[in-house]
Amino acid sequence: MSLTKHAKLNAWIEEIQAMVKPENVVLCDGSQAQYDNLIKEMVESGLATKLNQEKLPGCYLFRSDASDVARVEDRTYISSEKQEDAGPTNNWKAPAELKAEMKALYDGCMKGRTMYVIPFSMGPVGSDIAKIGVEITDSAYVVINMMIMTRVGSKVLDVLGTDGEFIPCLHSVGSPLQPGESDNGKWPCAPIEKKYISHFPEERTIWSYGSGYGGNALLGKKCLALRIASAVAHEEGWLAEHMLILKITSPEGVVKYVCGAFPSACGKTNLAMLIPTIPGWKVETIGDDIAWMKPGKDGRLYAINPEAGFFGVAPGTNFHSNKNAMLSAQKDTIYTNVALEADGTVWWEGMDEDPKSELIDWKGNKWNLPANGKSEKGKEAAHPNARFTAPARNCPAIAPEWEDPKGVPVDAFLFGGRRPSTIPLVHQAMSWEHGVFMGSIVGSEVTAAVISDQVGQVRRDPFAMLPFCGYHMGDYFAHWIKMGKANPDKMPKIFFVNWFRKTKEGKWLWPGYGDNSRVLKWVCERCDGKGDAVETPIGFMPTATAIDRPEGVTVEDMNELLSVDKAGWLAELADVEKNHYPKFGDKLPQELRDQIKIITERLSK
Ligand code: GTP
Ligand code: SPV
Ligand code: MN
Repeated sequence: MSLTKHAKLNAWIEEIQAMVKPENVVLCDGSQAQYDNLIKEMVESGLATKLNQEKLPGCYLFRSDASDVARVEDRTYISSEKQEDAGPTNNWKAPAELKAEMKALYDGCMKGRTMYVIPFSMGPVGSDIAKIGVEITDSAYVVINMMIMTRVGSKVLDVLGTDGEFIPCLHSVGSPLQPGESDNGKWPCAPIEKKYISHFPEERTIWSYGSGYGGNALLGKKCLALRIASAVAHEEGWLAEHMLILKITSPEGVVKYVCGAFPSACGKTNLAMLIPTIPGWKVETIGDDIAWMKPGKDGRLYAINPEAGFFGVAPGTNFHSNKNAMLSAQKDTIYTNVALEADGTVWWEGMDEDPKSELIDWKGNKWNLPANGKSEKGKEAAHPNARFTAPARNCPAIAPEWEDPKGVPVDAFLFGGRRPSTIPLVHQAMSWEHGVFMGSIVGSEVTAAVISDQVGQVRRDPFAMLPFCGYHMGDYFAHWIKMGKANPDKMPKIFFVNWFRKTKEGKWLWPGYGDNSRVLKWVCERCDGKGDAVETPIGFMPTATAIDRPEGVTVEDMNELLSVDKAGWLAELADVEKNHYPKFGDKLPQELRDQIKIITERLSK
């Protein structure tokens, strides 16, 4: 019997079923009953731990395999027909070759398992900007996470009808079971050399194998909403970006919408949910990780959050740093790789209070806080990339318009990363081209969000999209230049921010978090042509008094945060010219090459 009313979808489901040979097939209808039942099964099998239901109602804990804790960029492919279309920053294999390799693995890979079919919508169901995907997976953990992160079920099939367009997303944990065998509560996944996160942009198809981790397995998120969507957006004239979207209201009631692109684990969720430390200002959340933006009839860019939940970094999140994230994750939340307290609550590093008891760490072992009160690097109770999956509707700061299918008009773009030196607290682009230049040179210390031996080292991560751009990054830069040329006066103003400056002793120079509202205030003022600024060789910067100084920040600190490090910038520009831009060859827009010259000349005067 056919699973749906959609002939093409049915044919695809049958084709996959024949290849992966599951025990049975289940269509996800999006119901609470189905969600509850999957959780019940996973608690019974030992994969999930039920948390304290009085303190954390509807919350569960999962511990992954120790090897399956983050995205695997080395195993991620953009498999366009021509290598040139994937560009120098993506791994590439010819589609036929990659598919043959993966088919050998997919053959019988769901033996002994249930094959779930998840119809999902990225964006409000039925919105013009939304896109529908269907994920086939053998992981119940993926199903329940997708049910939080996206809109799932029958309502999506209704919109799809009998012949609507959908993006097929195939996922398997890559761990078939022998007859009578079970996982025994162990997290199933394949070894690293058998993991594949593959994208076929021309076909608009995703094939993922061997990992159960968020960004590798929840295929609506990075795979569809960024890698495939960015390629589609390039073709169709819109933008799919690794950006938070926030709404900020001044004491006078003036509203601005700000999008920010910071690399993974560099503060998007925190900024999106910020509680201002300056009186009278209010920040509300639209999205914390991804923005899809299309030009409206008025020529402005309108942004939607294609997601329905937050897949947030737990470590470092606490009631002082991000109260709204903490409150979002108090109910109906899935925790992955955090530590467990004896009373069935959770703990992680940076929670701002010591554990109440002996813990069970993310590997399932007993764990006690060392006598000096600090976790040893590599022996943390929670994995540094431990995450919470929480419904966006839980967030006390969610903006009423967060699901508006039209989106919100964007006033400003922020770019930023973890840069201990050189990059000031904030500076503003002098033109659209200068702003695109800023985005193109974003760099950051690599974080635990990716499995890499470069963690802690600064690498360039243009537009925070290095791991997520589904086509040639030189074409991507050109696309950004072009988007601005169409409507130069209507485009958002562009700013470069850096919350991560450090002193010589390695201490944060800027308190960050809620105090970032002081920078947002200046951004809002600049969007209205106000806000005191000086023109410097690198762009407009706040005057010494334009940004209210937070408690604990001295005048000297402020001067350092807001000065132009001439030698540092000359070295930065030289590095961009010598090591970064040449990668893009002929595809690098001349406008960006020109910016190096313009800024170098201004600095040398
Ligand atoms: P992804 O979900 O990986 O895309 O990350 P994200 O950009 O949403 O990062 P998130 O907001 O989760 O922050 C990651 C880490 O950075 C957390 O440990 C935060 O505590 C820390 N962080 C966020 N904002 C600030 C800040 O303003 N200053 C400092 N020092 N740390 C921050
Ligand atoms: C990131 O790494 O940027 C994330 C988490 O937002 S994941 O969805 O795993 O990619
Ligand atoms: Mn992200």
